[in-house]
Amino acid sequence: MERLRVGVLISGRGSNLQALIDAAADPAYPAEIVTVISNRGAVPGLARAASSGIVNLVIAETDRAAFAAAADRVLREARVGLVALAGFMRLLDASFVAAWTDRMVNIHPSLLPAFPGLHPQRQALAAGVKFSGCTVHFVRAEVDTGPIIAQAVVPVADGDDETRLAERILAAEHRLYPLAVRLYAEGRLRVAGNKVTVTGGMPPDIAALNPSGTLTEKLA
Ligand code: GRF
Repeated sequence: MERLRVGVLISGRGSNLQALIDAAADPAYPAEIVTVISNRGAVPGLARAASSGIVNLVIAETDRAAFAAAADRVLREARVGLVALAGFMRLLDASFVAAWTDRMVNIHPSLLPAFPGLHPQRQALAAGVKFSGCTVHFVRAEVDTGPIIAQAVVPVADGDDETRLAERILAAEHRLYPLAVRLYAEGRLRVAGNKVTVTGGMPPDIAALNPSGTLTEKLA
């Protein structure tokens, strides 16, 4: 059976891209990364794609509509079934978001809807929360909004600075993103309004990252 063809949009380091590439190295994983697009040249993420033999290109277009048109063409030509934003730091044109509704996901390093936008770890520290985490969600026109697929909870430690908290959250991101893409590839996500349900229930590996019930039981 053909695996889900995934196109990844990046702007920089590409460690989440790497997590997806690593997951897809297992032939049993139901998705493969077929193309990587960066809006910036010479970033580490492009080198990661190249060293895994994945088609990769730079679309440096600063005009939002022109970027969207070029990216859309590349993704369609590559017969992509899912677009995954992974550290993609540009706003997307509304028509692009509409064209890929429920077929485009993003990862954000906070428990949305808390701390959307830039520097979510800094926002979390400033708010004094005891837990933060990361979220994989379907993309909507408004930045860091859209139906939530999966979340992972990460504790904030006393004395954390932005770098330490970001590292701890990033480790969770690298587990969560491949799991969420797997659920999509298996056709198990149903979107109704702002809510996503997983047919067959959350598999145990994701439930561990979405500690519904268990966490509060432990605290009680
Ligand atoms: C990640 O923290 C991701 O959640 C956010 O930007 C960062 C990208 O890191 N959207 P990387 O490029 O995947 O290493």
